[in-house]
Amino acid sequence: MRGKNATERLSPDEQGIARAAQILRDGGLVAVPTETVYGLAARADSDEAVAKIYAAKGRPSFNPLIVHVGDTAQANILAQWDERATRMAEAFWPGPLTLVLPRRPDAGLATAVTAGLPTLALRCPAHPAMRAIIAAAQVPLAAPSANRSGFVSPTMAEHVFQTLDGRIDAVLDGGATARGLESSIVALRDIANGGGWQMLRPGPITREQIAEVIGDDREIAVAATAIEAPGQLASHYAPGKPLRLEAEQAVPGEFMIGFGTIPGDCTLSSAGDLEEAAARLYECLHLAAESEQARIAVAPIPDRGIGTAINDRLRRAAA
Ligand code: TXA
Ligand code: MG
Repeated sequence: MRGKNATERLSPDEQGIARAAQILRDGGLVAVPTETVYGLAARADSDEAVAKIYAAKGRPSFNPLIVHVGDTAQANILAQWDERATRMAEAFWPGPLTLVLPRRPDAGLATAVTAGLPTLALRCPAHPAMRAIIAAAQVPLAAPSANRSGFVSPTMAEHVFQTLDGRIDAVLDGGATARGLESSIVALRDIANGGGWQMLRPGPITREQIAEVIGDDREIAVAATAIEAPGQLASHYAPGKPLRLEAEQAVPGEFMIGFGTIPGDCTLSSAGDLEEAAARLYECLHLAAESEQARIAVAPIPDRGIGTAINDRLRRAAA
């Protein structure tokens, strides 16, 4: 029997999407699948709804949220765009790229969404169920990753239930996510004075792909200290156990995460495919966290393409 605070599991069909949209319109919390990781969504224009996200996650209120939109028209109402930002969205939306732009103060978003910053993080996701929910809810949705603060991000509905069951209204179960790592985040700084791009978080859209749109790789600054993105704090992806990187094989007491020719208790990709490895990373970290072994070892991952983002998350998990 379901208790008063039970979390509903919804299917990604017409009925499930309508129910998810209804809960969101009513100011509730729904975990939703995206192509990167599951997000914990609430309507971004309601102070009460957004406050519930911070409470359910145990997230520090100084850490701002990404607002999810259905298209650039909706995004234009919320932030200030210039021709460069438009080109970036045209290249990668819908998809796993988050753009940080100056926010429009009159956009009607809850103040807690931006945690007092003058900028706003915007993303237009590609996942069909998520797109259908945004369209049906008819409001922009704030959504951080759907895990309690400090836990590994969820790439399947089960992961969401593990840390948020009973704390949120529903989970829309869309199966395992395709990309497996949080979106790449780029910020356009000082838009009025022709300022440049800054990479805040590596992700599925690589620096090389972004540089191709900008035309000059030297124009992307890497955030030295990601003070504006506290989600980038070293401890953020911690599986709760010591983690050893660049391991050729496990020693007794270690859960081995394999790659390529190095086999593991969980293997990211035996074919050495980095896209497949990214999609499986968090599942392996979840399995490692649940295993009997006290420590985790991870095989070396090539630092190219999406491998850069995998290594970024692994270094944070090891810190
Ligand atoms: O793929 C994703 O981006 C997933 C899915 C659900 O969309 N979401 C996600 O959200 O990873 P979250 O909250 O776990 O990470 C959002 C990151 C945090 O590091 C936050 O500090 C940063 O975005 N952020 C949000 N607003 C920002 C802003 N205005 N300026 C700089 N960083 C910002
Ligand atoms: Mg997160």
